[in-house]
Formats: sequence, structure tokens, C-alpha cells
Amino acid sequence: MVPVMSLPLVDAGPIVGRAPGKIILFGEHAVVYGRPALAVPVTEVQATATVTPAPAGSGLVLWAADLGQEGRLRDAGPDQPLAKIARLALDWLGLADPDWRLAVRSSIPIAGGLGSGAAVSAAIVRALAGAAGRPAPPDIVSGLVYEVEKLHHGTPSGVDNTVIAYEQPVYFVRGRLPAPLAIGAPFTLAIADSGIPSPTRLAVGDVRRAWQAGPAPFEALFDAVARVVESARSAIVEGRPAQLGALMDANHRLLAEMGVSCPELDALVAAARAAGAAGAKLSGGGRGGNMIALVGAGTARQVAEALRRAGAARVIITSVGGRPSPTSALSGPQ
Ligand code: MEV
Repeated sequence: MVPVMSLPLVDAGPIVGRAPGKIILFGEHAVVYGRPALAVPVTEVQATATVTPAPAGSGLVLWAADLGQEGRLRDAGPDQPLAKIARLALDWLGLADPDWRLAVRSSIPIAGGLGSGAAVSAAIVRALAGAAGRPAPPDIVSGLVYEVEKLHHGTPSGVDNTVIAYEQPVYFVRGRLPAPLAIGAPFTLAIADSGIPSPTRLAVGDVRRAWQAGPAPFEALFDAVARVVESARSAIVEGRPAQLGALMDANHRLLAEMGVSCPELDALVAAARAAGAAGAKLSGGGRGGNMIALVGAGTARQVAEALRRAGAARVIITSVGGRPSPTSALSGPQ
């Protein structure tokens, strides 16, 4: 057990852990069934966890700033996600219940497919590890976060915790070591939030029930998704991002056939294409949450406007593999 020394916190000031959001470029849902997926971090949104000293004897105090909720770790139930990741991190660090206050904030929309739960967990691990003076490597962060992902949705593939913990684009296959995804030429995405919260576990559970009722058509859909993912991987690595538009359209159609799109997402996808996006698809669990559209320097603004007009609660323009776009920003309806 690592001794709980008079920790460097008091002298060093607050210790902050951060983690980005993520989007799935290709392969969601099929990835739960062993097919590959491509995912990238989204640094325009992030979760932060800040550790400061707490009064002696208080133990760890969790402050969920966005929810206005505070409580002691020792009073929290086993399935409370913030408490669960804090306990896992403290176990890994060999600390019992240090007198620290852990404040958590996030600009990542909850239940929107941008990895909010995984990012909050990763930020907590990093903050606690930083406060203990023992930084957590990405594989440890990923493994601990995965344990909490199981609470958020029953059968997580592990893609969300992986891309968020490694903070780089990944080619992911369940049960294998993640492979970095090299970006041959940068490309730009518009990410639009339908504004409809959609817990991933509901969509994942519905796909599982449909697959159990009739595996053959779903296996065929997953295989078709896998082919799209492999084509997309080649296009990305070899620097042919223009080809991603048609592949996004194909992936969206397959997801709709799985039953995880919804009229609002279909409307955003159609609006993006009509405004000049090269292709578009839902991203994440579906039934709400976010969609992505492939845009160019000349089309980013008009696609973002069209998405807002079509009902997007907010739009992020993000560059994959390049410098952040000057227009990268969170924006609400106008
Ligand atoms: C959620 O971000 C992605 C899904 O494929 C679920 C998972 O991979 O665990 C829908």
C-alpha cells in the first residue's frame, strides 16, 4: 500500500485531470459483435476533474459541479459511476480514502454519443493519479474506465474508453490491442447534436434483442459495416478523405437497417448532404445523440447553418489529423 503522505497537493495547488470527448467515425454497433470500428478524440469538448485538499477525516468528497451534487465516497453506493471509478482508481493507487475533494465538470453532452461517461471517468483517474504523484498510463486508464462503461451500457465493446484514454485516432477490434489510425491527410467534420438524449445501453440492448431473434440478417449487416470500415481505414491512412463521404452514407444506411436511426437524425443527415456535405451518418448509439458530416473548407459554415436550421441543438466543426480549424467551436442554435 502506498503511504498516504502529506500529499503534494497542498503545496502544488489543485491537480487537474482532463479527457476529451470522442466520436465513432465508422463501425458503431457492429463493433460490439467483433467487427472493427474507427474512432477519434474530439478535443473541442472535455471533462475535467480537480483534486484539492479536504478537511482531515472527511475522506474523498465527490463534487459533481454540473449537477450541483456533493457526497462522500464512503457514503456512495457501489453502482454510482463517479464513486465506482474513484474506488477503482484509488485501489490501483493503493490508497484507501484520502482526504481530498474531487470536483468534476464536463462540457460533453450527456447521452449524446460523444463519450461523456468515459471521459468523466478518465479525467477522474488522471486527477487522482496525479494527486498521488503516480500518473496513470493509457492502458490503465482505459481498463479502469471500461469497468464503469459496463454500468452505462451492458455489453460495451471498449472502443469509447480506448479512444478517450489513448487520446488518438484508433482502429479498434474488441479484445485486441488498439491500433493507432494514421491520418494520411486531414479532413474536417461537422458534428451535430440532435438534442435528443439517448442512453447507449437502450440502443445496444435493442440491437442485441433483434440479433438474438434473427441472427442471420444482423450478421450480414455487421459484415457489410466491417467492409465499409476497412475501406474507410484505407482511405484515411492513404490520404483519400474525399472517399469517406460515400462510405459515411453507406454506414448510415446500414445503421438505419439495424433500427438505430430516428427521423431527427435522418433529417440532419439529409440536411447536411443537401447543404454540400460529401456524406453523413449518425455517430454512436443512435436514436438521438450526434451525427457527423464530412465537410470541406468551403462547405463547413453552410453545412453547420443547415444543420442548425434542421434542428441541431449545437454543431462542432472539428479537424481530424490537422490543426484545429479556426471555426472549431461549440455553438448553439442561431
Ligand atoms: C457507443 O459509442 C458505440 C457502440 O458501438 C457501443 C459500444 O461500442 O460499446 C454503440
